[in-house]
Amino acid sequence: MYASLKSIGAYVPSRILSNADLEKMVDTSDEWIEKRTGIKQRRIASAQEATSDLGVKAAEKAIERAGIAKEEIDLIICATLSPDHLCMPSTACIIAAKLGITNVMAYDISAACSGFVYMLSMAKAYIESGMKKNILLVGAEKISSVVDYTDRGTCILFGDGAGAAIIGATDDKNEAIVDVHASADGNYADYLITPGCGSKYPCSQETLDERLNFIKMKGNDVYKVAVKTLTNDVVDILQSNGLEASQVDHFIPHQANFRIIDAVREKLNFPIEKTVLTVEKYGNTSAASIPMAINDAYEAGRIHKGDLMLLDTFGGGFTWASALVRFGGN
Ligand code: ACO
Repeated sequence: MYASLKSIGAYVPSRILSNADLEKMVDTSDEWIEKRTGIKQRRIASAQEATSDLGVKAAEKAIERAGIAKEEIDLIICATLSPDHLCMPSTACIIAAKLGITNVMAYDISAACSGFVYMLSMAKAYIESGMKKNILLVGAEKISSVVDYTDRGTCILFGDGAGAAIIGATDDKNEAIVDVHASADGNYADYLITPGCGSKYPCSQETLDERLNFIKMKGNDVYKVAVKTLTNDVVDILQSNGLEASQVDHFIPHQANFRIIDAVREKLNFPIEKTVLTVEKYGNTSAASIPMAINDAYEAGRIHKGDLMLLDTFGGGFTWASALVRFGGN
C-alpha cells in the first residue's frame, strides 16, 4: 500500500495588490520589488474572508477532482501561520465544519512555509500504516492579517491564498509519494518571527504598540540560509532515492522570491521549463505556496498522472522539507 496525491485544488481572493499600490503605502518602487523579488502582484483576502474560507474553497476543488464523497475523508490537516483564531479552535476544525464534515480527526500544524510538505510526510505515514484512507491536506493563509504594511522589508513579499490536496491509497508505485524529507533548526527562530501575542509576549497594548503581532524578518540572512538549505535538501533526497535531476519532470519550489528559486535551480541544473513559477502573480503565500504552484501547473495542463514532481520548501523556524511525488490524479 502506497500513499498517493490524488488531486489538487487552489483558491485565491479576487483583490489584487500590485507593486504600484504598494508604492502608495511605503517607500518602495515597482522596479525595486520586481528586481529583488520577481513579484509583480499578490492577492489580498477581504475583511469578511478568514483563512478557513480560503481553505474551504481550495478543499472543495480538491475533493471534487478526487471524485470522492466528502464523507469518505477521515482526516483533515491544515498548515497555516495565520489561523482563524490564535489558540483554538484549529482552522482545520473550522474547515471541517464549513465543509459539512463531522466526526473526523482534524488538526493544524505549524511549520510556516514548509507546512504543506510536512503534512505530506504525515499523510504518507497514516496511509501506509493503514490508519487512514482519504486525507484532506489544506495549506491556507490570510497572511495579510500578520503582515505589517508599514514595513517595506516584508509587506512587499506576502500574499493570501490556499491550496489543498487529497491523499489516498494506491497499490501502484508509479502514482505514489516516493519520499519526504523534513527538518528544522530552532536556533534560527529569531530570523523570521511573529514575536508578540503568544505566551512569551501576550497580547497587550504594549505588544500592539510595538507592532510585535506582525512578521519580523532578517531578510538578507534568511535569503542566504534559504538558498543553501533548499539546494542541499534536493541533492540529499535525489541521492538517497538513486535519482538524477534529469529524471524529475517538475521542480516545484516554495515561491518566496524569484532570485532564491533561480539560484537554487541553476545550482541544481533544472531547466526553467521544468520549474513551476507563480511568485510573480501571488507573492509568498507561505504554507499555501507549494499546493497553489502544483495547482497552477496542473490547470495549465503541465502535470499528468505518473509525472515525478520534486517539491522543495523552506520557512520560519527555520523549517525545511523536500518531497518526491508521482502525481496520482487524472
Ligand atoms: N523598497 C525599496 N528599498 C528597500 C525595500 C523596499 N521594499 N526593502 C528594503 N529596501 C532597502 C533596504 O533598506 C536597503 O537599503 P540600504 O542599502 O540603504 O540600507 C536596501 O534596500 C537593500 O536591502 P536588503 O535587505 O539587503 O535587500 P535584499 O537584496 O536582501 O532584498 C529581500 C530584500 C527581498 C527581503 C531579500 O532579502 C529576500 O527575499 N529574503 C528572503 C525572504 C524570504 O524568502 N522570506 C520568506 C521565507 S519563507 C517563510 O517562512 C515566511
